[in-house]
Amino acid sequence: MIETTPRFWEIFFEVYEALPRQGPGNRASAAKALSLCGGLPPMPVILDLGCGVGGQTLHLSELMSGTIVAMDNHAPFIERLKAALAELGLANRVQALVGDMAQPSLPPESFDLIWSEGALYNIGLEKALKVCRGLLRPGGFIVFTDAVWRKENPPAEVKAGFDLDYPAMGWAADVLATVKRCGFELQGRFTLPDEAWWTDFYTPMERRINELQGKYAQDAEASATLDLIAREPELHRRYSDYYAYEFFVARRP
Ligand SMILES: C[S@@+](CC[C@H](N)C(=O)[O-])C[C@H]1O[C@@H](n2cnc3c(N)ncnc32)[C@H](O)[C@@H]1O
Repeated sequence: MIETTPRFWEIFFEVYEALPRQGPGNRASAAKALSLCGGLPPMPVILDLGCGVGGQTLHLSELMSGTIVAMDNHAPFIERLKAALAELGLANRVQALVGDMAQPSLPPESFDLIWSEGALYNIGLEKALKVCRGLLRPGGFIVFTDAVWRKENPPAEVKAGFDLDYPAMGWAADVLATVKRCGFELQGRFTLPDEAWWTDFYTPMERRINELQGKYAQDAEASATLDLIAREPELHRRYSDYYAYEFFVARRP
């Protein structure tokens, strides 16, 4: 993310609201992370924090039984998820809510599993993990992805991109230390494969940007904003060896 003018955000959301998901991830990786949650009850109560339009929420609804509360603070994402749930006949199992994960207004110790892909960092990982610990039943699981560095001395443009969006981004070891400090026991972790960045995220993003470049061909500001947004997948194409998205699975003892 580079600019923060109202017009930037208008165009940003015009791109992001149309995508199947708003960050890297895929169904196979969600299934792999879920396989590390041994001992879940047969009908678990699940919370998906920072769900976006619900890409992973819908995967979870297919991969497991139980009920899901999916929460995001961007109302249009939740509207789109609600429409998908109605269309798929899932509204009885999945509840989509607008809410702030920093103050989720949900009953304490009421969830067996909290899922969050690429979202906890928005309120600071440590704060988010403490919120999650309070919402989980003893023995409950927290499963989340977080961006981490994996190579020293990233190119300036990569560093600048993350400094704007995620200045506190650390290494996997930093995340593991935070997980432990917040009172969780690690069950497993793995790096998202490259296809999890492209299939449901950057490929549809580049397609959407091209579509909007046509729509805004006569609008220099919108077109320049789209060029800025397009830098992220382009940087990933060139420099993905410097950083990764990591899945972490941990348990409240
Ligand atoms: C990188 S996106 C990931 C979305 C989704 N989990 C996915 O992987 O497709 C981060 C999401 O966190 C949401 N978010 C940011 N701050 C939030 C907050 N304080 N409470 C709830 N959601 C938040 C954003 O609206 C966005 O949908």
